[in-house]
Amino acid sequence: MKALITAGGHGTRLRPITHTQNKHLIPIANKPILNYALEYVSEAGIKEVGIITNREGEEVKEAYGDGTSFGVKITYIPQEAPLGLAHCVKIAEDFIGNEPFVFYLGDNIIVGGIKRFIDEFYEKKTNCHLVLAKVKDPERFGVPEIKGGRIVRVEEKPKKPKSSYAVTGIYIYDKHIFEAVNAIKPSARGELEISDAHQYLIDHGYKVTYSEITGWWKDTGKPEDLLEANRLVLDNIKAEINGRVDSNSKIVGRVVIEEGAEIINSNIRGPVIIGKGTKIVESYIGPYTSIYNDCLIEHSEIEFSIILERCIVRNQNIRIEGSLLGKDVRIIKSNEKPFVNRFLVGDQSIVEVR
Ligand code: G1P
Repeated sequence: MKALITAGGHGTRLRPITHTQNKHLIPIANKPILNYALEYVSEAGIKEVGIITNREGEEVKEAYGDGTSFGVKITYIPQEAPLGLAHCVKIAEDFIGNEPFVFYLGDNIIVGGIKRFIDEFYEKKTNCHLVLAKVKDPERFGVPEIKGGRIVRVEEKPKKPKSSYAVTGIYIYDKHIFEAVNAIKPSARGELEISDAHQYLIDHGYKVTYSEITGWWKDTGKPEDLLEANRLVLDNIKAEINGRVDSNSKIVGRVVIEEGAEIINSNIRGPVIIGKGTKIVESYIGPYTSIYNDCLIEHSEIEFSIILERCIVRNQNIRIEGSLLGKDVRIIKSNEKPFVNRFLVGDQSIVEVR
């Protein structure tokens, strides 16, 4: 079994964070989103991984290199233009060859990994195994129609969904998927749709099976969704204190404090993760917060938030909540008179003050 992981796209729905980085490299619970995919495939015993990138793909290549640190061998496959997910499969045919493979959309996070689906693929002796999740808004996804425990149809972003399931971004195929992706035609939006490839398999008598799961996340268009992913992952972390916590600090619940982090006279209420080299001084950090590396939080309160590397938050007398700070952001108190609010904010940022 091989794996094919997508890591291209422009992340327009997650701006401003994606102005300066590929959305697959945004950290969730202090780990880039794509790390989850690589960990899952590696845990499942897969050694050969193809990563589909944008035309250049430099950022992803720089981050993952040849894959050694994940125990896999990575081959980068650039997609010249965003022509659809079935097109990603099509251009990977030489890399995959005749082997079965997992096709994993790199912006999906799934609690509990993917080994169980691979086992089912083999047990069911199927041609295509889909992973389904119940969602509130199926019209945003590929949606299956299920009759008598079988998928009879898959529609891409239907106006009137035939079930309340989404086809998640984890698919397991045998070689027949290539027959499908080479036969289908582009959709109205000019892309080769993965749902059309699934429909082709169903129409041509191939076996399409499925598993149902909970604990799945993918970005569906709003930055708040990242907070939701962060919550999902933090809900499953194990406490681990590798940094320094002074005797005046109180740590409650599942809290990860990474190496070189320092907690001084502060109160941390998990689930929370504090990154390497970050300093928390005289502050409160509340549930569902991830603070990445080399930040300084001083005399402030933060809850249900994601803070990226090298941010400084100092002397905030109102709690910061439901917030997402990009890299190198500073939220500090000015000591100069007159007392004013001063902002230096990048494109498409949002500031909500009281
Ligand atoms: C893609 C697929 C869709 C699937 C979704 C899962 O949608 O086209 O069928 O349900 O991924 O992540 P997109 O993210 O391109 O809108």
